[in-house]
Amino acid sequence: MITREELIKKYLNFFKKNNHKEIPSASLIPENDPTVLFTTAGMHPLVPYLTGQKHPLGKRLASVQKCIRTGDIGDIGDTTHHTFFEMLGNWSLGDYWKKEAISFSFDFLTKELKIPIEKLAVTCFKGDKDAEKDEESADIWQSLGIPKARIRFLGKEDNWWGPAGKTGPCGPDTEIFYWTSKNPAPKVFNPKDKNWVEIWNDVFMQYNKTEDGKYIPLKQKNVDTGMGVERMLAALNGLEDNYQTNTWTPIIKEIENLSKKKYEEHYRKDMRIIADHIRAAVLIMGDEKSLKPGNAEHGYVLRRLIRRAIRYASNLGIKDNFTAKLAITIIEIYKESYPEIKKNKNFILTQLEEEENKFRKTLESGIKEFEKVSKNKKIISGKEAFLLYQSYGFPIELTKELADEKKIKMDMKEYDKEFEKHQELSRKQSAGMFKSGLADSSKETTRLHTATHLLNEALRRILGPEVKQKGSNITPERLRFDFNFPRKLTEEEIRKVENLVNEKIKSGLEVTRTEESLQAALKSGAQAEFGQKYPEKVSVYTIIDKKEKSGFFSKELCTGPHVKNTKEIGKFKIIKEESSSAGVRRIKAVVEN
Ligand code: ALA
Repeated sequence: MITREELIKKYLNFFKKNNHKEIPSASLIPENDPTVLFTTAGMHPLVPYLTGQKHPLGKRLASVQKCIRTGDIGDIGDTTHHTFFEMLGNWSLGDYWKKEAISFSFDFLTKELKIPIEKLAVTCFKGDKDAEKDEESADIWQSLGIPKARIRFLGKEDNWWGPAGKTGPCGPDTEIFYWTSKNPAPKVFNPKDKNWVEIWNDVFMQYNKTEDGKYIPLKQKNVDTGMGVERMLAALNGLEDNYQTNTWTPIIKEIENLSKKKYEEHYRKDMRIIADHIRAAVLIMGDEKSLKPGNAEHGYVLRRLIRRAIRYASNLGIKDNFTAKLAITIIEIYKESYPEIKKNKNFILTQLEEEENKFRKTLESGIKEFEKVSKNKKIISGKEAFLLYQSYGFPIELTKELADEKKIKMDMKEYDKEFEKHQELSRKQSAGMFKSGLADSSKETTRLHTATHLLNEALRRILGPEVKQKGSNITPERLRFDFNFPRKLTEEEIRKVENLVNEKIKSGLEVTRTEESLQAALKSGAQAEFGQKYPEKVSVYTIIDKKEKSGFFSKELCTGPHVKNTKEIGKFKIIKEESSSAGVRRIKAVVEN
């Protein structure tokens, strides 16, 4: 049996022998990419270097990277998908290209791991309007001994990788498949046959995908590869279930102890989900950027994982707190590779205990409430689902899952509306905006509201159209505006932004309010806050500017209040520019008479 530790060592040694430098795993929270919550691949922390910046360790790198993928949480419970996983990767930053990259992969698999060539097959990119058919890779594979019948050409859905977020480096790839069945592999490769498992992906990153969906050639041609540790381990050890590899077995064993049940067919799915979710939660809380469960973004993902695991544990009859116990086993497995997890041990255990106490208090009554509202019904209303969220702490996805299990529908639209009503209310409350029951629409805040719209647009014009609002807070004294941007603004940029806002104030532009369908508003170029949920019909504020081709300087979804003419704002001044969180900047500004 080859272990996780042995595989990682073999991999890194092989690439070091071939002049690669090892880089440490980066944080699970990406530094410079506000378009995604988590690091999803080994290349993610390398984006600046794939786009031309010089890496201090040179042009050949290799690593084992902690990754989180939350997209397919519904797939968790099968034998191959995991929320947290480790990815082995090697990179050429404008150095070697297809021939060497493919030869390295081939040699590592057939010489180091001694996989017989008869058990391998590959796919290559079949070409489309963005990039040509990858005959070059197919020829290289053939020259190494992979028969033509074991090479298939597929489209973008299969043989293209990236960008990791919305924009950035990407390109065609060639994927390597391993034959996992005990029977001999068929001569002709059919990628749909489940016995062929994808084990390694070599991406030829030569394009940059832009905001408007174009693929622009990068300054340098890069190679980015990725191999999931557990998938590879299962394949090498002839196991049909990743959870039987040595990283998972101690966790599964602990769940067996806690539930007094065996990892048998009937309980497997529940046990895998619990193991997967608590492991991911422990790694997120134990990350160098260590985060807590909460109601938004990363915190919400954590909360969902922990609560979903607790719900599945109740299927197994685990009635007492167990998450912290399981965490101790998980920390033991990873403490050598990721010392930050050991440092955060107390934090992890306390957070799990707190979250579990909180959820256990309402879990049973919540399930009862669910049974009650779903009894003899075809659909659960949005109000009922919202009540389960607000009063019983049921993440909406959990309620949806319970409904799916009973084959009942759920009114998601109404839920979204309820959620939004509540958000708006609590946003206003927390901003202290309730004065005698009315939202604050004093002259000061109204001027700052419109100044915020001018600032938002000015930032986009000066820094680039990818800038999006991430948050805003207004008091009668000042505005505070958060937006995605990877670095500190220069003095000159700040001055330019300030000048542009003041120029638009001086021009005396008219501000109008209209009501439009969400779709039409977005289509006409209206800005919306990143990650915010909006109803179908929205209120839109436009700052009219006849000099612009579009007829406006700024257009935003907003509930107001706003001035009628920008002249009313006064002089605009930025008083502070600072970091708010990873990849997010914060500006504080005032207006003076
Ligand atoms: N970045 C590529 C992947 O994640 C290698 O598959």
